[in-house]
Amino acid sequence: MSSANRNTSNPQAGDEQPPAVSRHVGIAPMLTLIAVGVLLYAGGMYLDRHAGGFRANVYEPYRSLEYVESLQPQDKGDKLMAQGKQVYQTCSACHQASGEGMPGQFPPLKGSKWVLASGPDRIIRIVLNGLTGPIEVAGETWQGVPMPAIGSGFSNQEIAAVLTYIRQNEEWGHNATAVTPEEVAAVREKVSDRSAPWTAKELKKIPVGEEE
Ligand code: HEC
Repeated sequence: MSSANRNTSNPQAGDEQPPAVSRHVGIAPMLTLIAVGVLLYAGGMYLDRHAGGFRANVYEPYRSLEYVESLQPQDKGDKLMAQGKQVYQTCSACHQASGEGMPGQFPPLKGSKWVLASGPDRIIRIVLNGLTGPIEVAGETWQGVPMPAIGSGFSNQEIAAVLTYIRQNEEWGHNATAVTPEEVAAVREKVSDRSAPWTAKELKKIPVGEEE
């Protein structure tokens, strides 16, 4: 009697239940895991393709619009002038953006015979080691604070660029020859053991013709 009851109410009790339960619990997390994996992979591929391959310099901000412009492909002369304009920001603290200097303190670069000499050997020295007065510029004698040695912090390329900028600045009416990094390198080597600023008297002994 008891065995007959068991058979009618639950004919296959104990035979097949466990496998059915474990299969249903397993599928949902598996699918989620696969979906997450595919998404991560696709996301990584997307970023890699569209976001610069995770290179740090892709994400660095640029210093200014002018700096970005200076990186644009240009012919060689324009590029030197653009870089020179950047470096000139150091000079303009004293000589002013206009190149006109400050009366009684900083002599003008605009119209200066020192700047416009046929060769750059004197002005390269001024930038590398500084200058102490008296010096005659634009018909006046200047003897204020000495100009500091600025060039030691700049590369040959940067000094060539800033000197080209002041020699060829159209707004100042200048049209002298460009200065090359090689010219700066040659002078830097010659004056490497000097730390004192130049005097105008000493500089006048340095030829500024093409042969130097
Ligand atoms: C801290 C102020 C200061 C800065 C910055 C400065 N100068 Fe000068 N510069 C002077 C002074 C002062 C003199 C004149 C020194 C003297 O009286 O002997 C001078 C003189 C000169 C001269 C020779 C005289 C003339 O007017 O032509 C040149 C060329 C020159 N500077 C170029 C530069 C360049 C290029 C830079 C930037 C790379 C620069 N200076 C940055 C103060 C400065």
